[in-house]
Amino acid sequence: MPVLRNISQLATCPAHHPQHDAGLIPQAAVVWRDERIQWVGPHVELPPEYGAEPVIDCEQRLVVPGLVDCHTHLCFGGWRGDEFEARLKGASYQQIAAGGGGIASTVAATRGASSGELLRKARAALDGMQRLGVTTVECKSGYGLDEANELKQLEVYRRLDADHPVDLVPTFLGAHIVPPEHRAHRERYVDLLCDVLIPRVAKARLARFCDAFVEDNAFSLEEARRILTTARGLGLGLKLHADQLSAGGGADLAAELGAVSAEHLEYASDGGIEALAQSGTVAVSLPLASMYLGEPYMAARRMLNAGVRVAVATDFNPGSAPSFHLPLAMTLACLNQSMTPQEVLMGATTVAARAVSLHEDRGSLLPGYRADLAIIDAPSLNHWLYHFVPNAALRVLKNGKWVS
Ligand code: NIG
Ligand code: FE
Repeated sequence: MPVLRNISQLATCPAHHPQHDAGLIPQAAVVWRDERIQWVGPHVELPPEYGAEPVIDCEQRLVVPGLVDCHTHLCFGGWRGDEFEARLKGASYQQIAAGGGGIASTVAATRGASSGELLRKARAALDGMQRLGVTTVECKSGYGLDEANELKQLEVYRRLDADHPVDLVPTFLGAHIVPPEHRAHRERYVDLLCDVLIPRVAKARLARFCDAFVEDNAFSLEEARRILTTARGLGLGLKLHADQLSAGGGADLAAELGAVSAEHLEYASDGGIEALAQSGTVAVSLPLASMYLGEPYMAARRMLNAGVRVAVATDFNPGSAPSFHLPLAMTLACLNQSMTPQEVLMGATTVAARAVSLHEDRGSLLPGYRADLAIIDAPSLNHWLYHFVPNAALRVLKNGKWVS
């Protein structure tokens, strides 16, 4: 049983703690056995039976649970660097989308890419995430938007999950936009989702969750309600891209349907926030998307004060958030959303795990939890999130094995 000692600060991030209390222990030690945490606590209380075990000296550094990125669009063809320039010259995300760019252009590139290409590209991103201390990643489809290509994306996730140390949690996002070939009869696409695609995905267990994008240019509340109700009936958990670019009642719908999470929420109303607090739905904040699109940041402080749990994730995708740097998103959440470092760390560990229904298994460093952790080259949590460096993760442990 290996022992990590000489930890200057250990963040245990218990799932039952209020979000402002990350369960910090100074001068700590951690013991794990196989894939699970065996013991954590102050070093002076380390039980003598672990005294003879192999020791890893953290040399007075911070140790945190393996990070959980609970919202990504990991598998996609192509990139959209030219839209980045167009936006810098004044075009809006919605104008670009209306002109045939945006999500539709990534759909075309993803349809044109082979499984092998998509797999290689997603694997490279996942390797980069792992080096940053990320050990679990939620990943959405939604750039195929027909049967063959949605399944192609989800198969890439299945293969990658099978042979990469990082765990993937796949989400079906067939309701990302209405694909060009169905624009004239959008109801036929909603029928295809409800009658064919969602049943196939659920039967083959290719996704654990179903998501939908509620927005002008994407899906209406009524369409999303039908899609998500169908998915729920077939055993999938629910998520929702809600109130990202305009206030559309998405938060209320997520609460009404008992979704595990509502994501983005830059324009969520007070009533929507109250509904999320009542339903226990996690609000997933995506500060990189706000930064890249010049949109407001989610009102995380108001949500926390109202009793809503707030996760922090990257939204990694080729358009609104072309970066998988979760620690950068965490620093942005501190700076732009008045979240404390402890709230942010909870938001990228146990609260993020809750947003994929895994908070009883990971996201905390407590006995019985998965031995997923990162040794951070900083003496404390405050220091880590304030002194931004390209990569502060010195070592990463996944399921009890060093992977970086
Ligand atoms: O979460 N909002 C919808 N979907 C993505 C953007 C995807 C894209 O631009 O390709 C998002 O921001
Ligand atoms: Fe997204």
